[in-house]
Amino acid sequence: MLTIQDATLVRGNHTVFNALTLNLVEPRIGLIGDNGAGKSSLFRMACGLDTPRTGSVQVQGLAAHQVSSQRPGLVGMLFQNPDDQIIFPTVEEELALGLSPSGIPRRQAIARARSFLQERQLPDWAGRSIGALSQGQRQHVCWLALLIAAPELLLLDEPYASLDLPGQARLTRDVAQARQQVIVSTHALDHVRGFGRVIWLDQGAVRADGPGASVCAAYQADVAERAAAQSRSIH
Ligand SMILES: Nc1ncnc2c1ncn2[C@@H]1O[C@H](COP(=O)(O)OP(=O)(O)OP(=O)(O)O)[C@@H](O)[C@H]1O
Ligand SMILES: [Mg+2]
Repeated sequence: MLTIQDATLVRGNHTVFNALTLNLVEPRIGLIGDNGAGKSSLFRMACGLDTPRTGSVQVQGLAAHQVSSQRPGLVGMLFQNPDDQIIFPTVEEELALGLSPSGIPRRQAIARARSFLQERQLPDWAGRSIGALSQGQRQHVCWLALLIAAPELLLLDEPYASLDLPGQARLTRDVAQARQQVIVSTHALDHVRGFGRVIWLDQGAVRADGPGASVCAAYQADVAERAAAQSRSIH
């Protein structure tokens, strides 16, 4: 569904990807790698926020930068930082925003958001001010906004980072139940180890690509080796 072909992406004066090619069709895909490896950058290209200097990024055959104007319900991204995603001051308004591409009137969208929160046993969250929520609660709101918007491709950028253990379990269950394609970047490897496909990005290049169990094991072995080499050089 997501096709990246020979994409070279430059951010600032840094070349993040140099002719990256990936064909991402599996229903669940994990994205792992060190800080700065390019996970968020890949997502930014996939949802059209960044456009490669050369090459192409397409979702269902449509150029990623045209998705938001031509098919706004196609791709949704959970930002690594919830404050980059949230626009409205209250939870119900933020959730209602996700329904706007479907064209339903605002009042109905707010009503849908309220009943959705009720179904999720969070009725008192509807009128809450986003500014008065904790970091993990804001991340939770971002996930709820994506769930209610129900785009066909879900990009989750470190969605577990601020969630408490019940929140992580809830998100894992939601991801397992989602009917859409889901791509998850994470440093918490247990959340993607069971996926059929995991991609290990290393300085903007694909270092390994295959079943979650083997790619996560290879990454962990490499991390352990680097840590050992570092401690040898210190002592
Ligand atoms: N706004 C920016 N301007 C210039 N370079 C950037 C910018 N954001 C990120 N980069 C660079 O792009 C590269 C990839 O960053 P990216 O944020 O995609 O990494 P990541 O894998 O998501 O890391 P993390 O695990 O820390 O979230 C890094 O070398 C980073 O320094
Ligand atoms: Mg990132």
